Amino acid sequence: AGAERGDHDHFLAKEIAEQPRAIERTLSGRLEERFSTAHLGGLNMDVREARAFRRVTILGCGSAWFAGELGAQLIEDLARMPAHAEPASEFRYRNPVVEPDTLYVAVSQSGETVDTLAAVQELQRKGARVIGIVNVVGSTIARQVDGGIYLHAGPEMSVASTKSFTSTVVAFALLALHLGRMRDLSPSDGGRIVAGLAALPGQIEQILDDEKRTGVIAAAAAELAPSESVLYIGRRHGWAVAKEGAQKLKEISYCHAEAYAAAELKHGPLALVGPELPTVAVVPDDDLAEKNTSTLAEIRARRGPVVAVGHREIPGAGRTLVVPRSEPELDPVLLSIPLQLLAYHAAVALDRDVDRPRNLAKSVTVE
Ligand code: AGP
Repeated sequence: AGAERGDHDHFLAKEIAEQPRAIERTLSGRLEERFSTAHLGGLNMDVREARAFRRVTILGCGSAWFAGELGAQLIEDLARMPAHAEPASEFRYRNPVVEPDTLYVAVSQSGETVDTLAAVQELQRKGARVIGIVNVVGSTIARQVDGGIYLHAGPEMSVASTKSFTSTVVAFALLALHLGRMRDLSPSDGGRIVAGLAALPGQIEQILDDEKRTGVIAAAAAELAPSESVLYIGRRHGWAVAKEGAQKLKEISYCHAEAYAAAELKHGPLALVGPELPTVAVVPDDDLAEKNTSTLAEIRARRGPVVAVGHREIPGAGRTLVVPRSEPELDPVLLSIPLQLLAYHAAVALDRDVDRPRNLAKSVTVE
């Protein structure tokens, strides 16, 4: 295994570093610059069929579910279709209403997660059209669905998903672009997304290189690691990024972490905020930046330590992990990278079994 890890101490570090190449592969042959759209032959769906769907329901577990939440926002933003994501593990037990004009998307890195497979089978029994966003070629879910998008992110060995998470968000951006350009997404907005997607691998490279040079994220992780609990907050796209960030910290460092919608803090969790509870805040430089700054002021007023992830130094944050700017719809991909590194360095600082955290399996194939 040492050889397969190359120069890296852990598979997780290797897989974080592989993200530029993984995303290049997810995009490969799928961007159609000339028509400002995405070509997705694996969907097995002609324009007439694709246009007949009125909404999208996305199913997955754990990080696949959180990637699906970002996917739902991309579909709503770009295709203007109502879309939502929910855990497949809940969906399968609630006798859902299955409608013929809903497109169902099953998300799974391994393609073997039993809850996601059971949700797909239940849907198909009720006549639904289910497509997959899957990494492992020929896996059970990939074979079960009616078409889909392979990530081509390459094998993911570490239990905690990193490259499959960002590649899944990219695959959703392709799907949203594809559905959007058949509907109301203009050629110029389509072109903006095509260019934004093509730029992502280089921008991720830049985040990774900056960290090698400065060690800012590792330093922030060393400060966070002794905490008993960490609050992750964000608004809109930033909220799903916060959920995945909290999930990474929990699973590999065993430090309790909770993600909350920033605007919901004052409805409860603000009671916990104080010097002992650090907050990781996802603060992109978007139209909600001011709202986020005032949330951070509330936290600082209670002497809560803040680490921000954003596009420029954030006032009120002890540290900001700065990432390059993408298109607003694609920013979550870049904002996720420092949170992966934060969890990784915290786990290393605590001497955890980074690639094989206790109690967890890479894919959950039994109930
Ligand atoms: C992610 O870090 C976790 N290991 C876990 O939540 C995972 O995403 C989930 O079990 C789903 O796995 P799948 O993508 O292989 O279906």
